[in-house]
Amino acid sequence: MRIGFMGDIVGKPGRNAVVAKSAELKKRFSWDFIIANAENAAAGFGVTAQIGDELLAAGIDVLTSGNHIWDQKGTEEYLSKLPLLLRPANYPNYPKYPTPGLGMVIAPVKQSDVSVAVINLMGRTFMEAIDCPFAVGEKLVDEALQKTPVVIIDFHAETTSEKRAAGWFFAGKATAVLGSHTHVQTADETLLEGGTGYITDAGMCGPERSVIGMNIDKMLFRFLSKRKVRFDVGHEDVHIRGVSLEVDEKSGRCLRIERFNEPWHP
Ligand SMILES: [Fe+2]
Ligand SMILES: [Fe+2]
Repeated sequence: MRIGFMGDIVGKPGRNAVVAKSAELKKRFSWDFIIANAENAAAGFGVTAQIGDELLAAGIDVLTSGNHIWDQKGTEEYLSKLPLLLRPANYPNYPKYPTPGLGMVIAPVKQSDVSVAVINLMGRTFMEAIDCPFAVGEKLVDEALQKTPVVIIDFHAETTSEKRAAGWFFAGKATAVLGSHTHVQTADETLLEGGTGYITDAGMCGPERSVIGMNIDKMLFRFLSKRKVRFDVGHEDVHIRGVSLEVDEKSGRCLRIERFNEPWHP
């Protein structure tokens, strides 16, 4: 089977591109299942119910997220209702202050008897010090493997080292460990020992004439003045970036991982 993974969808340009092109990409890459990271889909910050529904209606099977998942009003309620939108699994879950939503879903592949487990984890280096993504992830992978051999991890993290460590940690167990969050596609896609597809960052779906999706002038103001400014999403040179996986659904091994970079002209 083939699985498509699209990196962080940034704002309206990213959303429009994904909605307009996902059917065509699905056909071209023969995808049976599509995962996309939606943490920046709402004007760069978080995702609303309406946007989540729009992306799922466009053919995305599972949406993952990251640190920006809590940025929009109403997302907590949406997460509780919709298991196809994940939040990082390793947020703390203290009983008095439970974390809404789930960090893993086992979703059926349409017109087949195969299921895909998708797990969303978040790193801790230069990010919120949430629970350990390795320990939490290990438990979830073991749980998922009881139900399906196909296990895809979106590892949402800042540093290359933490992501590569996660790749080796889950090598031979997960089908793929795919990085998100930094919005710049890396050129290190590879197959790790035991048939685990890996890339440090799948890249973003959004405007590349920008600073990781955001307006260049606002970003320069922030860096040069060290004062706060409200960011807005850039809009020029929109690309859809991600990876396409070929997977043996019987063993769960990744046979091939291929990067893609699809420019979109509205
Ligand atoms: Fe992001
Ligand atoms: Fe992020």
